[in-house]
Amino acid sequence: MSAPHTVFALITDTHFQSGSGVKDGILWNRQVMSQSERLADLLIQSLNAREIDFVIHAGDLTHTGDRCSFEFARAAFSRVKAPLWFTVGNHDVCEPGARAWLATDWGIEPPSMYFSRYHEGVRYLFLDSNYAHLPSGEESEVQQWDQTSKYSGVGFSATQVDWLRDELARDRETLTFVITHHPIASKSEYPIISPRDLGAPNFRLGPVWRKLFPTYYKEILALLEEAPNVKVVFTGHWHINDITRVNNLYHVKTSSLIEYPFEYRVVSVFEEFLDISIVQLPAEDLATASLVPEWQNEWIRGESFDRERRIYFNDESIATKL
Ligand SMILES: [Fe+2]
Ligand SMILES: [Fe+2]
Repeated sequence: MSAPHTVFALITDTHFQSGSGVKDGILWNRQVMSQSERLADLLIQSLNAREIDFVIHAGDLTHTGDRCSFEFARAAFSRVKAPLWFTVGNHDVCEPGARAWLATDWGIEPPSMYFSRYHEGVRYLFLDSNYAHLPSGEESEVQQWDQTSKYSGVGFSATQVDWLRDELARDRETLTFVITHHPIASKSEYPIISPRDLGAPNFRLGPVWRKLFPTYYKEILALLEEAPNVKVVFTGHWHINDITRVNNLYHVKTSSLIEYPFEYRVVSVFEEFLDISIVQLPAEDLATASLVPEWQNEWIRGESFDRERRIYFNDESIATKL
């Protein structure tokens, strides 16, 4: 087998927090923001031990979107040998002008968080699913994650849908991967037991999750499915490992680096397929401290087919367990 022409790491949801008032939290299990420094060190060591062309971060670089935490994140990622490509998550755009100063500080051109980059004959298309949609119909660049219930939705922007339509029409040949923070497709159901709802553990069905898809996801998904050269969508936000094929697209979700199972993906791109593997940070004690067995959320680690997969770009017969 020939060598991959590109190898990249896909990391997401680092939720780094620095400065005063750092507090641990809960999502599926315990989130250990207080361990940001140690986790950053482990992540950097792990990434630097690999031959990778670049690192993609799928958003939620920080937990509270404040400058101090971003400075911490930037200092950490500046120690990674490979370049970092990223788009923001809902926890990153809590302050007015966050995208503009991020773009300036991190040298992103143009100063938006949706853009495309080419590398070795592949287009990497970054989208920004973190605009707050207000009941008045207006869009806001600032999205405060703890105010979500006051919004009519959080998701893509109208201008971004138009941009994506033009961008996909501009190049219908080059193999294209999409990176955006919020998932836009899923399995039909997941064994979800919310630790915030203990006492009533349940098995929620897909439609509940679909309400969590970002605003304009149907338009974005339709454009991506219609484009013959878009094959894979990489996302974060749900903090689970999941690889699901829906129609002609593979949707690859990756777990968070601030809670169990403390993993990231390595993606090797060949001419006709890509290989996805998974790497766990050597932090057994943190995994033990994070995982709460009685909350029954070990499932977020994913089944074997959610963790490692070979995806052929032009083989419609690949069997996928949905
Ligand atoms: Fe997150
Ligand atoms: Fe998120």
